[in-house]
Amino acid sequence: MNNKMNSSCDPLRWYTHCLPDDMPRESVAGGIAIIVDVLRASTTIVTALEAGAAFVKPVVKVAEARRLRSISGETCLLGGERRGVRIAGFDLGNSPAEYCRAAVEGRGIVMTTTNGTLAIERSLAAKVVLVGSFLNRNAVAKEAVLLASVLNIHVIHLVCAGTNGQETEEDFLGAGSIVHAGVSESSRNHVLDSVSEKALAGFSRAVNKSSEPQSQLVESFRQSQGGKNLITLGMESDLVLAAALDRCSLVPRLCPKSGQLMSFDAV
Ligand code: MLT
Repeated sequence: MNNKMNSSCDPLRWYTHCLPDDMPRESVAGGIAIIVDVLRASTTIVTALEAGAAFVKPVVKVAEARRLRSISGETCLLGGERRGVRIAGFDLGNSPAEYCRAAVEGRGIVMTTTNGTLAIERSLAAKVVLVGSFLNRNAVAKEAVLLASVLNIHVIHLVCAGTNGQETEEDFLGAGSIVHAGVSESSRNHVLDSVSEKALAGFSRAVNKSSEPQSQLVESFRQSQGGKNLITLGMESDLVLAAALDRCSLVPRLCPKSGQLMSFDAV
């Protein structure tokens, strides 16, 4: 990456959107959008690329996923869920545990999920689309601040996916964790909207209660709608995988031409 920084003193503004449906598409135009679907699309996309998947192509509709797979000559894997469960005929569901090296290395994955891929689709007007989770929160925050400087962008949007059209606590905490890491970048003057302030305070409260942030996050997930859904489906172990704070430095970034999320190692 070209390290020549924008010398502008303009503040870097952070906005948090609790639900993609409440966010007019044009509101992210020209900015950086970080998609946050902690349980589980963001976590799974980061895990898949970390395990060596060539790309993840997010799509909204199941029929579109099937069409893309058929024209790929069956070389792509199909992944995703509806109601938390693997879609009939798909190779993989939406559990990060399924996206191991043996399953995905070198393969492209066409993915559709109920909320996460929809949040990506609603953010396409952004100049840069990144995917953030607890796994890569430090990396994605730092990369967003760096890209903002290099590309002369002044706004970062945290786009929470929610659960079935409802705001959800785990995404709000995830957004707060990214703001927390981002504002520690003292190269910029940061200005937070009131929702980002609230998300940051929520994350600070959650992790300050415990010397083990991962266990504290899992506790919070257990109380959230997304977490409760997964517990009901017998997938509680996914909560632990999703809470691995700062486990990796990989940042998925959407390629505007291909619509594919690709691995981008943060500097
Ligand atoms: C989604 O995108 O709707 C979620 O990631 C749902 C899930 O798999 O738990």
